Amino acid sequence: AKDPATVLVTGAAGQIGYALVPMIARGVMLGPDQPVILHMLDIEPAAEALNGVKMELIDAAFPLLRGVVATTDAVEACKDVNIAIMVGGFPRKEGMERKDVMSKNVSIYKAQASALEQHAAPNCKVLVVANPANTNALILKEFAPSIPEKNITCLTRLDHNRALGQISERLNVHVSDVKNVTIWGNHSSTQYPDVNHATVSTISGQRTVRELVGDDNWLNSEFITTVQQRGAAIIKARKLSSALSAASSACDHIRDWVLGTPKGTWVSMGVYSDGSYGIQPGLIYSFPVTCEKGEWSIVQGLKIDEFSRGKMDATAKELIEEKSLAYSCLE
Ligand code: NAI
Repeated sequence: AKDPATVLVTGAAGQIGYALVPMIARGVMLGPDQPVILHMLDIEPAAEALNGVKMELIDAAFPLLRGVVATTDAVEACKDVNIAIMVGGFPRKEGMERKDVMSKNVSIYKAQASALEQHAAPNCKVLVVANPANTNALILKEFAPSIPEKNITCLTRLDHNRALGQISERLNVHVSDVKNVTIWGNHSSTQYPDVNHATVSTISGQRTVRELVGDDNWLNSEFITTVQQRGAAIIKARKLSSALSAASSACDHIRDWVLGTPKGTWVSMGVYSDGSYGIQPGLIYSFPVTCEKGEWSIVQGLKIDEFSRGKMDATAKELIEEKSLAYSCLE
C-alpha cells in the first residue's frame, strides 16, 4: 500500500475549503489508491468553524483519510506537506482600494512562503487559488527561493473548464469530447480563452471547434466575455463566489500535474514564464501545458494569429502592473 500524502489546504474554513476537503479525502485529487493526511489552516477568528470541519471529516469516515490537523499555526500546517493548496486570502471588501487588498495578500503570501520553504516536504507542489492568484503565486515564489519555481503554480483550470463547458453547451456535445482550449494570462477578466486549437471528438473523427461552431463572431466575442465574466455571473446568482467548481478544478489541476495529462490533451495552468510565446519571464502566466511524471511543460509551437497576440499581450500587461503594485506594497 502507498504511504499517505500530506495535503495542506489554507483557508480551509471558507467556502471553497468546505467543498474541497471532502473531495481530497475521497481520492478525487490524488486517486482512489492514495491515502491522504489533511492539514487545514485558517486564522484565529475562523478557528472554531475550522474545528467543525475537522469534526465532519471524522464523521464522514473516509477510508482514504489517515489523519486531520486543524490549526491556526502556519508552521504546524506546513510541516511535511507534499501538496499545498493555498485558498486562504484577504477578500476585497466594498470601498477598499486595489492597493489595500494587494498589500494584505502580499503580506500573507510572504509569510506563508517562508513557512512552506522551511517546513514542507522536499519537492512540495504548490497551487495558489486565492486572488489575485497569479500575483500571490509570484510573491510566494519570490519569498520561497529554495522551492523550485516549477513547483509553484496558480489556478486557471476553472477558467479552462468553463471554456470547455461553454463549447459543450453550444454544440450540445459531451464536455469530455471537447479538448485543447487554452486560457492565456491572468485569472481575471483580462484572461484570453482561446479556441483556435480546440477540437471535438465526433463519430467522423476529430473536428475543430471553429468549424463545428461555424460562427466566428460568437467565438470572438460572446464566448470570450462569457468565460471572462463567469465568476461575476456566479456571484450575482449565488450571492457567493464559485466554490464547488473552484474546488473541483483545483482537484483536476493537481491530479493532472501529478498523474499526467492524457496523450494528445493539454490543460491550462498558471506557471512561471520562461519567455515562451513572447511572454515576459518573471510573471506567473497561464499557458497550455502537458504533464508527465509529475512535471508540466508548456505546449510549444502553437500558431498565434494577430487577434490572439493582442489579447495575450493585454493580459500580460495587466500582470506586469499587478507585479509592480505588489512590489510597491513590499517597500
Ligand atoms: P472565503 O472567504 O469563504 O474563505 C477564505 C478563507 O481564508 C476564510 O476562512 C478566511 O478566514 C481564510 N483566511 C484569510 N486569511 C488567511 C490566512 N492568512 N491564512 C489562512 N487562512 C486565511 O473565500 P472562498 O470563496 O473560499 O475563496 C477563497 C479565495 O479563492 C478567494 O481569494 C477567491 O477570490 C479565490 N477564488 C479563486 C478562484 C480561481 O479560479 N483561481 C475561483 C474562485 C475563488
